[in-house]
Amino acid sequence: MNKIKIINTHSHVNMLKERSVEEALKNCADENVVIIVPSYDDKSIFEVDELVKKYPDVYGYVGIFPEDVKCFTDKTLSDMEEIIKSNNKIIGIGEIGLDYYWNKSFIDLQKEVFIKQIEFANQMNLPINVHCREAYFDTLNILKEHNKNSKVIMHCFSGSLEFAKECIKHGIYIAIGGVVTFKNAVKVKEVAKNIPLDYLLLETDDPYLTPVPYRGKENQPSYVKYVVREIANLRSITSEEIERVTTINAKNIFPQII
Ligand code: NI
Repeated sequence: MNKIKIINTHSHVNMLKERSVEEALKNCADENVVIIVPSYDDKSIFEVDELVKKYPDVYGYVGIFPEDVKCFTDKTLSDMEEIIKSNNKIIGIGEIGLDYYWNKSFIDLQKEVFIKQIEFANQMNLPINVHCREAYFDTLNILKEHNKNSKVIMHCFSGSLEFAKECIKHGIYIAIGGVVTFKNAVKVKEVAKNIPLDYLLLETDDPYLTPVPYRGKENQPSYVKYVVREIANLRSITSEEIERVTTINAKNIFPQII
């Protein structure tokens, strides 16, 4: 019997330092893991375009990350459009959103570029992979006001269960990563345990946020299996059930994944 593919909805496999892309993808193949790789600025959109053309079981998002919005111009949008139209493995817009943690000096510009990219995703009819850090209600309010027809994923969800429920009320999916394995990650564990399964997705955000038992070392996309194990434990169901449900959810959002 074929093992179910696990869909890791957010991996920066092209940013790993301790192992090559080939090695990380070989480990993914061994664990039946398919990945989606986000871009973050006006150069990495081309990198992701090349990467997904080169490797099977690797898909991509194009988008400008909140910290990099100063590079965003009309040309960025037309470059993104060209990439999407010529590459059917670019299956979403990301990672885009708001980040008030690192730098609060250009919040207005972050909002403006976030809105433009939401409108662009709507126009392309593609899902959105959202980065949101310490900007919970601004992010949700902008999505509520501006998103018309794109499915939305909150990547590396770090909010409260209450905020997760508020997102789900608006049809937004919740992607859980390695943080859920951290002993002190009470909020994320509570979210992973209690949200309806049909809004749950998996990710790693490697090379960051390495799950236990490799915390402290560099993360890699195949470690999504530790995220699966922890969520299964928290919910007292099997890992296979988590894999099955999250793959159905991901394929519902991304029908291009085979
Ligand atoms: Ni990321």
